[in-house]
Amino acid sequence: MVETLKLIVVEDYKEMSRKAASIVADEIRKNKKLVLGLATGGTPLGLYGELIRMHKEEKLDFSGVKTFNLDEYLGLDPDNEQSYHYFMFHNFFNYVNVDRRNVHIPDGKAKDPNAFCVEYERMIKEAGGIDLQILGIGSNGHIAFNEPGSKADSRTRVVDLSEQTIRDNARFFKDEKEVPRKAISMGIGTIMEAKKIVLLASGKNKADAIAKTVEGMPTEEVPASLLQRHRDVTVIVDKEAASKLTRRQ
Ligand code: PGA
Repeated sequence: MVETLKLIVVEDYKEMSRKAASIVADEIRKNKKLVLGLATGGTPLGLYGELIRMHKEEKLDFSGVKTFNLDEYLGLDPDNEQSYHYFMFHNFFNYVNVDRRNVHIPDGKAKDPNAFCVEYERMIKEAGGIDLQILGIGSNGHIAFNEPGSKADSRTRVVDLSEQTIRDNARFFKDEKEVPRKAISMGIGTIMEAKKIVLLASGKNKADAIAKTVEGMPTEEVPASLLQRHRDVTVIVDKEAASKLTRRQ
């Protein structure tokens, strides 16, 4: 059994969100200019809610923080309600004192998406690299939109969404047909360069992916399992997402 990842099993979604928020807050208090990698989806919503509360009640200060989001659907306008731009502003950025000039999200409407990907990598480098990266995980083990089969050394690029991801994400759209088929995503190589990584998962439909990620052999078929090769990854899962692990803490 491989045990390179730090595993924290908590009771439920709320506790997962609180634990993740306390890690993010500690890092911001240590370094006001933290470069924070952010994720979208159902998983980090509670984390953002808790960070907003900490900003309001405990004056957690985001004014010097730089953010880089993992991915964005290709072809969606930033004000499209299904875009990750919209998600980030409406669930997080609008409620904290992050400087809009410090927010980076891949541009789904870039005229030349491939050139944009190169530019995104350059911006991350220019910021000094990502200090703390938040990740969710797909039911198929993807991280960002790095679907099974993505290369371990992949960089920010245009990717095709897998059928599984299209099905999983259809719940956010009126119709499965509306789910974009392509996205811009940081690569696995990009993510692996973050100094510290926190991966979150909750619910039964993540249990298989979490078992393979934590206890399986690292393989490009389960992109999250490649995180075993990183030196500082904390996996925070609720009981349901942990239900297929043999090791519990
Ligand atoms: P979810 O997505 O948080 O909406 O479950 C996670 C992911 O696909 O990375």
